[in-house]
Amino acid sequence: MFARFRRNRMNPVLRDMLQETHLRVDDLMYPLFVRSGEGIKNEVASMPGVYQMSADEIIKECKELLSLGIKSIILFGIPDIKDSVGSEAMCEHSIIANTIRAIKKEYPQMLVATDLCFCEYTDHGHCGVLDPHTHSVDNDTTLHNLGLQAVVHAKSGADLIAPSGMMDGMITAIRAGLDNAGFVNLPIMSYSTKFASAYYGPFRDVAESTPSFGDRRTYQMNPANRLEAINESIADESEGADILMVKPALAYLDIVRDVRNNTSKPLAVYNVSGEYSMLKMAGKAGVIDYDRVMMETLLGFKRAGADIIITYHAKEAVILLNK
Ligand code: PBG
Ligand code: ZN
Repeated sequence: MFARFRRNRMNPVLRDMLQETHLRVDDLMYPLFVRSGEGIKNEVASMPGVYQMSADEIIKECKELLSLGIKSIILFGIPDIKDSVGSEAMCEHSIIANTIRAIKKEYPQMLVATDLCFCEYTDHGHCGVLDPHTHSVDNDTTLHNLGLQAVVHAKSGADLIAPSGMMDGMITAIRAGLDNAGFVNLPIMSYSTKFASAYYGPFRDVAESTPSFGDRRTYQMNPANRLEAINESIADESEGADILMVKPALAYLDIVRDVRNNTSKPLAVYNVSGEYSMLKMAGKAGVIDYDRVMMETLLGFKRAGADIIITYHAKEAVILLNK
C-alpha cells in the first residue's frame, strides 16, 4: 500500500533504463605535467599516480590514453628557468610549445588543451607580472603577456586555450591576440569561476608553482561568494569564452549548478589535485572503496551540470567504464 518509488528500483534492467545522468569517456580530460629532459617520469608524493614527465614520456602516455579512449589532455609546463615576468612562457621554444608540436606530430587526433598562466614560469610564483608598488599582480601588463603566450600555444598546434589566471578582461585580450594572429577558430575554455582554494596544494608540488610570498586572494575568488561566482562566469561568456569552468569542483557543486542555470555555454569542472589526493589517500588507508567513491564523485559533477570533467582520475575511471 506504500509502494511508490521502490517499484521502479526492483528490476536492474529497468533501474538502468531510468538512470538520469551518465558518465562517459568523452566527458573526461586528463591533466599532464611536462618538464625538460628525457626518460623522466617522477611520481609526486602528494599525488600518487601523477607524474612530472619529459616530452618523450608524454608521447608514450598519449598512446596509452588513446588506447583507453581518452582523447583530450590539458598540458602544464614546468620550465627550467623562471624569471620575474615568466619569459619562457612567451617563447616559441617553451617547454609547452615544444611538447605540443611533439604530441601533434605523433598523435594529431589528440585534443591538446593548454593551461595559460604564468605561475609556473615566474620566480615569485604568482600568476602574472607584479606591480612594483603594490606587489600584487598587475592586471593589464599580464593581459598583454597572456595574449603573447596564447599565440605561442596556438602556433604550436594547441586545440583549446585555457586561461587560469583570473585576470579581469583576460578573455577579451586573449581573443584579440588569437584573432589578430589568424586563429579565429581556436576556442577558449576559461577558468571563469576559480576560487582561492587550499585544494590546489598538491598541484603546486607537482607544478612547482607555490607563490614565494603571499597568496592568490587578490585575483582568485573568495570561496564564500555565490553571486560573484555567477557574475565571473557570465562576464567571461560576454567576453567571448567558448567554454566556462568552475574550479575546484567538489566543495563548489552549488556553484556548478548556479552557473549551469545562468548560461547556455558548455561548462567544465576541474576536479582538482586536493580532491584527487584525498580519495587516493583514503583509499590507500582502506577507509573507503576508492573505485566506487571516485565514480560516485564524477557522476555528481555531471548531475550538477558539468559537460567536461578535468580529472586526474580519468584513466582509472575509464578502465571501470569499459568493464
Ligand atoms: C595555475 C593553475 C592551478 C591549478 C590549475 N592551474 C594552481 C593555482 O591556481 O595555484 C590547480 C589545479 C589543481 O589543483 O589540480 N593557475
Ligand atoms: Zn597561475
